[in-house]
Amino acid sequence: MTSVDESPTSAFDPKHDPPWWRQAVVYQIYPRSFADSNGDGIGDIPGITSRVDYLAKLGIDAVWLSPFYPSELADGGYDVADYRDVDPRLGTLADFDELVAALHAHTLRVVIDIVPNHTSDQHVWFQEALRAGPGSAARDRYIFRDGTGLDGSKPPSDWQSFFGGSAWERVDDGQWYLHHFATEQPDLNWDNRDVHDDFLYTLRFWGDRGVDGFRIDVAHMLTKDLTEPLPTHAELQLIPRDGKHPTLDRDDVHDVYAEWRAVFDSYDPPRTAVAEAWVDRERVPLYASPESLGQAFNFDLLQADFDPEQFRRIVTDNLDLAAQSGSSSTWVLSNHDVTRHATRYGLPHPPREKDGWLTVKHGIEWVLAGGPADAIDLPGGARRARAATLFVLGLPGSAYLYQGEELGLHEVATIPDDARQDPTFFRTGGTDGLGRDGCRVPLPWEESGESFGFGSGGAHLPQPGWFAEHAVAREEKDATSSLAMYRRALTLRHSLQSGERLEWIETRDPTVLRYRRPNGWEVVTNFGVGEYPLDRADVVLSSGPVRLGVVPGETTVWLAPCEEY
Ligand code: NOJ
Ligand code: CA
Repeated sequence: MTSVDESPTSAFDPKHDPPWWRQAVVYQIYPRSFADSNGDGIGDIPGITSRVDYLAKLGIDAVWLSPFYPSELADGGYDVADYRDVDPRLGTLADFDELVAALHAHTLRVVIDIVPNHTSDQHVWFQEALRAGPGSAARDRYIFRDGTGLDGSKPPSDWQSFFGGSAWERVDDGQWYLHHFATEQPDLNWDNRDVHDDFLYTLRFWGDRGVDGFRIDVAHMLTKDLTEPLPTHAELQLIPRDGKHPTLDRDDVHDVYAEWRAVFDSYDPPRTAVAEAWVDRERVPLYASPESLGQAFNFDLLQADFDPEQFRRIVTDNLDLAAQSGSSSTWVLSNHDVTRHATRYGLPHPPREKDGWLTVKHGIEWVLAGGPADAIDLPGGARRARAATLFVLGLPGSAYLYQGEELGLHEVATIPDDARQDPTFFRTGGTDGLGRDGCRVPLPWEESGESFGFGSGGAHLPQPGWFAEHAVAREEKDATSSLAMYRRALTLRHSLQSGERLEWIETRDPTVLRYRRPNGWEVVTNFGVGEYPLDRADVVLSSGPVRLGVVPGETTVWLAPCEEY
């Protein structure tokens, strides 16, 4: 009999479990849009606690909570006013502790978001910096500069924020501060010791509360060399990203993470971290190494088409990168920053670079743009999304899922402009696409009723009528639903996961990928539209209807080791 990994034991024994994160399925929760317990239209921590059974039944291993900290929501909570508290609209620290206890009771680990490149402009430090004036110690925690031009009325450089517009904002006394994202997100100065100490304190604060891991926001941006004269925006783009770039992916950011590593490793088991680092591929292992953050997101599939050649190359490449760092690979099809993959796969393929790769910037622009609405093939997108999901869930490494993808949700494109919240929409006047609100619409739990069961007082982003078709309550009754497929896949995955390797099996059909895991499980994905003949009849899971002996077009099947079924 082929040996298979045991399912995880029911008793949660954090001290003795093997590194849980290496092949974990981590489910991302965008707290303000998950479940609302008190009817104010905003999802909250008790709302999540009330749905822990749902999370456990889904079969995931961990939950990653996007920011729930006090925030004025200039950037969906990524503008943090206090790193060591819960936004009063979302609950209290006691509620948070209760949530962690409930998740741990179900053997679910907890990952939280740390946002170290910038604070909110409402943070006490920034308010103090505004009051303290030029040259003060308080201002040195941020990046303040005098302006240029005769009266200093021009910004220190022509740098552009990622969200559009100038990356510099002028304050009342005439100085300017740097913000790579929204105006309300001043960049911190990582040359300042207070900044280091405060984040070390924050990591311990949450580590002591039982948090199992951290997702590090824009992990490649903290440290900067702003020696004057500053390069122009155009010059900045041309400077090689070799570790010495003034603002991106600098080697010295890993000095910060070496300090963090000491904190992570002071716990038993060590706290984990995953880097959100948009860096050149050869530099990803620096972030994923055990001396640094230990794991890094791989966003290649967010930018790929539903295409066998791209999928195969990305998988091979990322398993190779993971091996270089000693970490495990990560797979992401959707998150809170991109158009949901069910919709993406219904769009025409975007134009490609010569070598087939999209640049990161191009990729983000495309997925944020949402594509031409009239060109969307919704059922096709949903079918391909299911096939891509089963392809990904069979891979070695950890998979990061985004709330609602298990329901097969599409992007909501129809949010009126005055109901939108995302600064990328407002700062670009909508010219860079619809922004990210369309994947952040509160989840449908019930087929009808107030906000489809999200809460009793409406939803902070409007839900379309078609959400009824994707409601948890409806999908739970349907064995062919997306939710049923995710549940079955995540249950089977405990048997499928074995050594962190795969072997490609040649299919003699360029539209079909097939791989085998060390314990004999196989995954076959037909990316084409025709049928692919299958030499085995023992399909245990499929992303769509199958007939004996064939894998239909745009479908994935899982095959168990022969002895198993
Ligand atoms: C990456 C986060 O995922 C995104 O939502 C946020 O806007 C930026 N970082 C800035 O914090
Ligand atoms: Ca609420």
